[in-house]
Amino acid sequence: MAHSHKHEKPVETGPKSRLISLVAQFDDPHALVVACDRAREAGYKQFDAYSPFPVHGIDDAIGIRRTRLPFFVLAVALGACVFALFLQYYVNATDESPIFPGYKFFISGKPLFSLPANIPVTFEIIVLSSAFATFFGMWILNGLPRLANPLQRIPMFRRATNDKFFLVLEAKDDKFSENRSRQQLEEWGATAIEECHEDLTDQKIPAGLRRAGILLLFALLLPPALIYRVSGMTYRQPRLHVVPDMDWQDRYNPQTRGPNIGTPERPRPLFADGRAMRKPVPGTIARGDLTENDEYFRGYKTGTAPSESQSGPYAAIQDGMAAPETPPEPEWVDVFPEDITVDADFVKRGKQRFEIYCVACHGYDGNGEGLVNQRAVSLAATGDAAWTAAKSLHDPAVKSQPVGRIFDTISNGRATMGPYKDQIPVKDRWAIAAYVKALQKTGIKSPADLANDQGTATPAGN
Ligand code: HEC
Repeated sequence: MAHSHKHEKPVETGPKSRLISLVAQFDDPHALVVACDRAREAGYKQFDAYSPFPVHGIDDAIGIRRTRLPFFVLAVALGACVFALFLQYYVNATDESPIFPGYKFFISGKPLFSLPANIPVTFEIIVLSSAFATFFGMWILNGLPRLANPLQRIPMFRRATNDKFFLVLEAKDDKFSENRSRQQLEEWGATAIEECHEDLTDQKIPAGLRRAGILLLFALLLPPALIYRVSGMTYRQPRLHVVPDMDWQDRYNPQTRGPNIGTPERPRPLFADGRAMRKPVPGTIARGDLTENDEYFRGYKTGTAPSESQSGPYAAIQDGMAAPETPPEPEWVDVFPEDITVDADFVKRGKQRFEIYCVACHGYDGNGEGLVNQRAVSLAATGDAAWTAAKSLHDPAVKSQPVGRIFDTISNGRATMGPYKDQIPVKDRWAIAAYVKALQKTGIKSPADLANDQGTATPAGN
C-alpha cells in the first residue's frame, strides 16, 4: 500500500509560509484572563481568547467593543428610504425619461406624488434591506464566509474545546514581533506556545472543481440566452403546450354540430339530430336574465328603443347620411315603474346611496361642487388633467328630464360620466333617481340661494 503515504503528508510549514499568529496555551481560566489583561495593557489590539466555556470577565480583559453593526444597518435603512421614495416618484410622477419612462397616471384627480400614499412601500423596502444588511453585515464584520481556519491545524489547539485555554496574538498587530511577543507570552504564564502559519497547501480551488464551476456558469447563461433568442421569433407551429388537454378541449357551441362518437368512416352523432345540445324546455328563462321589462330595467317605454340602425357609432355611415345632431332616444318613462313604491323610506335609501356614489362629484346639494370635481377642475385649470366639470343637477336641462332618463344616466353614464349599472342594483338606481328628483324640487342651486330667498321664513333677527 505505497499510496497510503500520500494522504498522511505533513502540513507544509516550510520557509515560504508566513507566520500569522502565536498560539499560547494556559491551564486555567484565571491565567487566561490575567494574560489577556496583560496583553491589552502591553498595547496589543489584534488578539483573541479561546476557551471550552464562557469565562467571566474575558470580554473586558480582551477589550471587546460594542459592535458597529447598528450603524451599518442605519446607513443602509436611510439609503433604502431615499431609494424607495425616488423609485415611487420616478415610476408614478415622471414620464420624461427616454429609456425607462414612468407611468404618469391621473386617477380621480389625485396627486401623482403624495408622501402618505408612499409610506407602505417605503416601509417595506426599509424593512427588507435592513434585514439583509443585518444578516450580511454580520457576515462581513465576522470575516465570513471562511471555509477553514489555520488554527484548526495545530494539534494542541484542539483542546480549546476540552480542557485548555488559549490566547492567540495576531502577527498583523503593530506591537507584534516574533521573539519579543513569544517572551511576553512566557512571562504571562503560557504553558506552551506554537506558531500558526499561513496555509499554503489548499489555497487553490482544485482544477476539476474550477472547471465544473465555469461550466455551471455557462449553463446558467443558457436559459436567458434562449429566452432572448426566441422572444423575437415567429412560428408556424403552436408553441409548447404543457397541458394539451386544457388547451385543446372538446368544446361545442350551442346549436352547432355535436361530437362524432363513431369513426370517421361510420359517423355516429351523440344525439340523433346531430346537434351538440338539447334545446331548453319551452318557456325556460336563464337565472337572473329576466330583464324583459323595459320600463323597470331600462327606464323607457316598452318597444320605444331606437333600432340598431338608428343608433350606434356607425349608423350614419351605414345609411350614407350625416350623423344626427342628437342621437335618437327612446321614450323615457316619466312616472316610476309599477314595481316601485316611492315612499319616505325609499327616498331615504336613495339619499344614502346618492351620498355613497354621487356626492364625490355632484356634491351633497347636487350643484356639482363635490370634492373630486373641485380638485379635478383645479388640475384641469393648470393643464395637469383633462376633465369635464360635473353637471349641476339643478341645471334646467337636467331638471326637465323625465325620471327614466335620470335612471338611464345612472345606469349607462352620460358623456364623461361613467356607468353605475354594475355597481348599483336596479332598485337602488331608481331610489337614487327618486332622491335626485327630490333634490331638484328643493330648487337650491347654491348656499347663497338660501340667504337670498325672500319667500320662505327667515330666522328672527337675521
Ligand atoms: C366621477 C364623477 C361623477 C360621479 C361619481 C357621478 N357623476 Fe354624474 N356627472 C358627472 C359629469 C362629469 C357629468 C357631466 C357629463 C357631461 O356633461 O359631459 C355628469 C352628469 C350627470 C347628470 C346629467 C346628465 C345629462 O343628461 O346631462 C346627471 C343626472 C348625473 N350626472 C347624475 C349622477 C348620479 C345620480 C350619480 C350617482 C349615481 C352621479 N351622477 C355620479 C360626473 C359624475
